[in-house]
Amino acid sequence: MQMRYLISSLLLTANVFAATLNLTGTVKAESGDLIKDAVVLLKVNGNLIAYARALSDASGKFTLLPGKEAPGEIATPIAKPADILAMKFAGYQVMDLKGRSHSFNNLPQGIYVLLGKTERGKIVNLGKFYHKGGALKIGEATQKEQKIKNLAKLVTASGDSIQLIVRKTGYLPEEVEFSSFNEDVGTVILKRDSLEDRIDSVMALMNLDAKIYQMTQPLVGSFGNGTYLYGSVLHGGDGYSSTILSSMRNALNSYSVKIPVTYGKDMMHGAAAISGATIFPHNIGMGATRDSNLVRRACEVTAKESWAGNVDLIFGPAIPVPQNERWGRVYEGFGETAELAVMMGAACIRGYQGDKYNAPWRVIATAKHFLGDGATDNGVDRGNSSATDSVLRALHLPGYEAAVEQGVLSVMASFNQIRGTHQHVDSERLTGWLKTELGFDGYVIGDWAGISNSTNPGSHDGCSYGCTTPTNRDAVGRAINAGVDMGMNEGDFVTNLKTLVNSGTVPQARIDDAVRRILRAKFRANRMDNIQGPAEYAGKANLIGSTEHRAVAREAVRKSLVLLKNENSALPISKAAKVYVMGTSYANNVGNQCGGWTLGWSSAPSDIPGATSIPSAIAQVATASVSTAAAADVIVYVTGEVPYAEWEGDIEDITFPDANATQLSTYKSQGKKIVTVFISGRPREANSLLEASDAFVAAWLPGSEGAGVADFLFGDHAFDNRSNKLPHTWPRNKAVFPVNSTEESPNWFPYGFGLRY
Ligand code: BGC
Repeated sequence: MQMRYLISSLLLTANVFAATLNLTGTVKAESGDLIKDAVVLLKVNGNLIAYARALSDASGKFTLLPGKEAPGEIATPIAKPADILAMKFAGYQVMDLKGRSHSFNNLPQGIYVLLGKTERGKIVNLGKFYHKGGALKIGEATQKEQKIKNLAKLVTASGDSIQLIVRKTGYLPEEVEFSSFNEDVGTVILKRDSLEDRIDSVMALMNLDAKIYQMTQPLVGSFGNGTYLYGSVLHGGDGYSSTILSSMRNALNSYSVKIPVTYGKDMMHGAAAISGATIFPHNIGMGATRDSNLVRRACEVTAKESWAGNVDLIFGPAIPVPQNERWGRVYEGFGETAELAVMMGAACIRGYQGDKYNAPWRVIATAKHFLGDGATDNGVDRGNSSATDSVLRALHLPGYEAAVEQGVLSVMASFNQIRGTHQHVDSERLTGWLKTELGFDGYVIGDWAGISNSTNPGSHDGCSYGCTTPTNRDAVGRAINAGVDMGMNEGDFVTNLKTLVNSGTVPQARIDDAVRRILRAKFRANRMDNIQGPAEYAGKANLIGSTEHRAVAREAVRKSLVLLKNENSALPISKAAKVYVMGTSYANNVGNQCGGWTLGWSSAPSDIPGATSIPSAIAQVATASVSTAAAADVIVYVTGEVPYAEWEGDIEDITFPDANATQLSTYKSQGKKIVTVFISGRPREANSLLEASDAFVAAWLPGSEGAGVADFLFGDHAFDNRSNKLPHTWPRNKAVFPVNSTEESPNWFPYGFGLRY
């Protein structure tokens, strides 16, 4: 049954959607078997965040209620539908997932919760919805009783479509016909996905050893032990080779079961492990663009260049929602709100894999790090998070919900703990939240040695903050049973896992499920049917850093820069002005503008083939560059952080001290215009520089296309409503840090701030 239930804003049903939604049904397989834990979704306009979701129970039955998400979800209505109908509301409020109120007149794109206020002042949660941006229309209803019925109108502008989808891992998703929001849709029969038959036929050739090898991802070395092939090999932050996949193809000849071994690499901002690649702004800058279409195009470029460099598995996108800017990985996330992780994460996965695996250049994408990497106390990398489940669900889970709906093939477990539970052994979240509630059917990969028991606490080798397992073998058992499907760079993983299966500690069914997930991803990414990779992209070195690709990155840079201050019409700079670039020893080092994960891990080389530095880009535009400050009308000062990655980037003090601030103030007092371009992986309290400058540009880590910075400074940029906005609240007063806010305050620049010129 394929039918779209079209709602017109005039349809009565739409009016009562929120209030009377009560869809029931029973899910069965063609064999007649009842299906438990089928995911049932009510989607508005195909949005990745469902309006309502439910799971079928042991008798296959489901009940879909408004905003009925998993237990503890912020959007779970506190009142039953019938009670809501009977309530009178004196007013309404729209809140985002961080609890911040918004005006109905100009609501940014995102996920919101509608609250009703009763005449006696009680606040009722009416449910969660997704909004495309712009004014939120409330129906014309004049009766207070009727107003409550309008959540439907809020989420369904006229002509929008509502879909009821039922899906379950291993079956084809079914769109179910329904004619009212309050009915029993009867029996929904799910057909087995024929892909599973293909997986069966491969698995029939595999014994226990072959399966365990398939679950193993060692560092690049051999492709197997001569008899059994590994599932994957990787290089960490510091290695890369363009010949791994071709050697792998040759190696397959000597194996009887020829399952391609994937080659995993971090491509955090473009295929930045490859010399000459197009290097995009890090995700924090992409978040500032607010342009999900641009993110999709950027990730498409990354996938194509990855294939051109013979990489078929990307450890990205990172979709943390960093809450404390002390964290060294803040720049890996798109911003401090769930909506950025949702919009941008899904867009990037679409760029990597296509829409449900239809892109010829598709790679295997890995959403990471699940769950709560951005939620750790004090922003300590790999630390513990004391966040409650409702905060985790409201802030940190939606990105994964969208990633799963977009069909992400892999998810990486996180190093952090949640209230003491290391995420590699957290069955409640890996198997409960991710695989069951969200219905993720790809594979979970562990992070780098993340399931080993640490013998050297503090060494950042996986369990530094408290693995409690006595031995590595115990850790492997716990992690696999919790839901990890592939181990990354684990020492004795193969022997440990085999022992654990033979002793019954890890059930054979768990191994079969893990291998099935890995093979499913390989089939969908076309790795099983095309060992050579896509002919148009695989090994095509001419694609790497092409003019066309660099143009996308340059556009991203222009749209990512956030103007925090612009006095005395400092920007845009006239191309005829006498411009002096100060801070060139910092700025000529293009590694600084690229940041970590660029041709290496935590540092970046100063010379990056194909990259344009900000001073050289300025020199191409400014017709009257001068070589001394004294001769200048305008001084562009480029400064900022130097590259770092992971825990090496953790800081205690958010203040950025800059030795040149006093000198800049002197120049300013002499009537010169001071424009500061601040390069950083996160907001820093930079008050002294802000004061010393007429204009201050938060440039994040823009990557290889310094020309995008020059475009912005000299006015070759057309602002649109959404772009060039803060993805994080920017601190101006340490005493109130960390803070996440959309409200104006002398103590910070709010989330979403960004001046126009
Ligand atoms: C990081 C991951 C990365 C992996 C492989 C780990 O240290 O946490 O994000 O994918 O290394 O390089």
